[in-house]
Amino acid sequence: MREYPQRRLRRLRRNPGLRALVQQTRVAARDLIAPVFVVEDPHAAGPIAAMPGVARHALDTLDREIDELVQSGVHAVLLFGIPADKDAAGSAAAREDGVIPQAVRRCKVRHPDLVVFTDVCLCGYTDHGHCGVLAGRQVDNDATLPRLAAMAVLHAQAGADLVAPSAMMDGQVQAIRHALDNAGFTDCGILSYAVKYASAFYGPFREAADCAPEFGDRRGYQMDPANAAEALAEAHLDAAEGADMLMVKPAGPYLDVIRTIKQALPDYPLAAYQVSGEYGMIKAAAANGWIDERQAVMEAVTGIRRAGADVVITYFARQIARWLAS
Ligand code: PBG
Repeated sequence: MREYPQRRLRRLRRNPGLRALVQQTRVAARDLIAPVFVVEDPHAAGPIAAMPGVARHALDTLDREIDELVQSGVHAVLLFGIPADKDAAGSAAAREDGVIPQAVRRCKVRHPDLVVFTDVCLCGYTDHGHCGVLAGRQVDNDATLPRLAAMAVLHAQAGADLVAPSAMMDGQVQAIRHALDNAGFTDCGILSYAVKYASAFYGPFREAADCAPEFGDRRGYQMDPANAAEALAEAHLDAAEGADMLMVKPAGPYLDVIRTIKQALPDYPLAAYQVSGEYGMIKAAAANGWIDERQAVMEAVTGIRRAGADVVITYFARQIARWLAS
């Protein structure tokens, strides 16, 4: 009889080379998408208090930000626009010379190989901060669809590789797909925020995009954090409507959902969005000396990848890329 167990798992943990050899999940800069906030009004540019290390960029300083990202090894960005003027209909989203069409053009001129995603939602453009147009105090789903579709077409026309609808309106992927095809943009893809929960972790983003709802909340259109099976319904519907990639958002508190969606739709590239509040928690704890920032970030992002996400959208993208290269 053997005195020791035949299999001793510690044998493969003995040194860094061995550990690297048997590592089962890897994070690479090419898996990351960096969100970037672009403001039309240059006076609105500057740091975001609730997101240390993240800033709002004016169009003419955007180049520098993108240069730095590319230089660090990040190859993909997700652009969020904040227009100079907001109104009830979010009409600034329908302008051909709007902040995002301009930003996309700049990015593509300077870095033709950069993969450019654009957020398609009205919340940054409406004065009431909701993700669609209102009928009374409700967001009118079907009246919002053509507006999102028109916005997506303008982004495609400017050169976006994929548009990313985040408004959580039913039928938005189909409406956008039809509009893109009718306008001749059959090659522009859709990264659907298919599974987006009504989350407290979006708090800091609402300062960044100046889009906190003026009344009520988003629970009438975003998902209940308690629901997992419903995530399957959302993902299957968006796949059927023509999504090219799917997303789960937030990421960290929804690792089970990431796993479920990856298993149910393994043939769709899956993104997960480590949102502003997830970023803020790590930043705040690290600033207090309570956790090691680098190790905590890598552990969180590795966990998101291990759960099944192919791609991670994260405000840490540049920092991670730099760490990986160092
Ligand atoms: C807009 C949108 C939000 C986020 C991404 N797109 C905010 C919201 O739905 O309230 C949140 C991103 C983050 O917190 O980092 N619909």
